Amino acid sequence: MGEFTIAVLSGDGIGPEVMRQAIRILRTIERLYGHTFALKEALVGGAAYDAHQCHLPQETIDVCEAADAILFGSVGGPVTAQNDPKWKDAEKTALLGLRKRFGLGVNLRPSVIYPFLAHLCPLKHEIIKDGVDMLIVRELVGGIYFGKHQTDGDKAIDVMEYTVDQIERPLRFAFEAARMRRHKKVTVVDKANVLDTSRLWRRVANDMKDKYPDVQLEFMYVDNAAMQLIQHPSSFSVMATENMFGDILSDAASVLPGSLGLMPSASLGDRIHMYEPAGGSAPDIAGQNKANPIAQILSAALMLRYSFHLDAEAQLIERAVQNVLEAGKRTGDLTHQGESAVTTDAMGEAIAAEMERLKGTT
Ligand code: NAD
Ligand code: IPM
Ligand code: MN
Repeated sequence: MGEFTIAVLSGDGIGPEVMRQAIRILRTIERLYGHTFALKEALVGGAAYDAHQCHLPQETIDVCEAADAILFGSVGGPVTAQNDPKWKDAEKTALLGLRKRFGLGVNLRPSVIYPFLAHLCPLKHEIIKDGVDMLIVRELVGGIYFGKHQTDGDKAIDVMEYTVDQIERPLRFAFEAARMRRHKKVTVVDKANVLDTSRLWRRVANDMKDKYPDVQLEFMYVDNAAMQLIQHPSSFSVMATENMFGDILSDAASVLPGSLGLMPSASLGDRIHMYEPAGGSAPDIAGQNKANPIAQILSAALMLRYSFHLDAEAQLIERAVQNVLEAGKRTGDLTHQGESAVTTDAMGEAIAAEMERLKGTT
């Protein structure tokens, strides 16, 4: 029986709606396994700005510092409202601030097509008939996101920098993860035909590969990777890449299983890890009880696995999610026109009920 303290940062838009369902799932785990989760809610993003005129207040950082893990929703407002002080730089201050503060250098984003959702994949059946099961390992505290940013009149600069240390962490994770998979392959995605940083990534990967003789290492330019992701998605197992390439390719990979609303993520840090859906605050559907809570719920499952080493509990959540989807319960992002969709709340409720049922049968 474990006791864990979790900083709960719901944030903006659909964040609080999907977080409520992740909390329901965590409460179900408490009941089923006798663990205790102390949930410490704190403000972040636009929600924090309303209260403190700041997107990442010190008291939120303090709550995170005192926690065993951080469960994060999403931050940011409508893409068209970025000059409103409430939204201006909310993501940079809050999200990038937390990533830097906690050294969250390894971001994991799985993309798996469940056979019973294969018809929702935007690609033709013959392209995905061999299945898709890939893990994107994205570097998260370096690269162009954290280089110098400057605007001088009509000129703006953003600088991409990497050090060997920053590259080694995600690559080590990628090699280790590949070892445990059916296809023991790491694809390092870069732009080494142009960028020095990419050449450094290749050097580090080549220096490391002898330690992992069982893992095949390949390099691919990012433009080709974007194409291969659509044409041969089954050919990827672990994809390791720098911060911005990983951001873009993970949104692309997220729709292969049917929706961005299915993709969880884990951001592994020096001491405390953070768990967040790959998608954002989705202002277009916020407040309507129709967002898909599964990315948030699966992020909580990753938290149980990576931060608390509760693998059986994480698996129970993952199995319940699959069963509920397979039984035909879907939020609007996973339904075609004319098909009926369930609400965010109903989806959370169904997953919790399935967890109770599954646990009762074992
Ligand atoms: P978005 O990811 O919020 O939404 C893109 C599309 O995906 C929208 O149509 C949205 O409705 C849909 N979508 C996303 N999550 C969904 C879910 N769980 N269920 C159903 N549909 C879902 O990206 P955007 O619209 O480009 O950005 C909106 C705001 O979110 C911006 O301020 C952006 O900076 C921010 N953002 C935050 C994070 C984060 O906090 N981790 C991540 C990405 C974007
Ligand atoms: C993500 C998001 C963030 C990123 C934004 C909101 C800064 O898109 O987590 O994928 O680019 O990392
Ligand atoms: Mn993104």
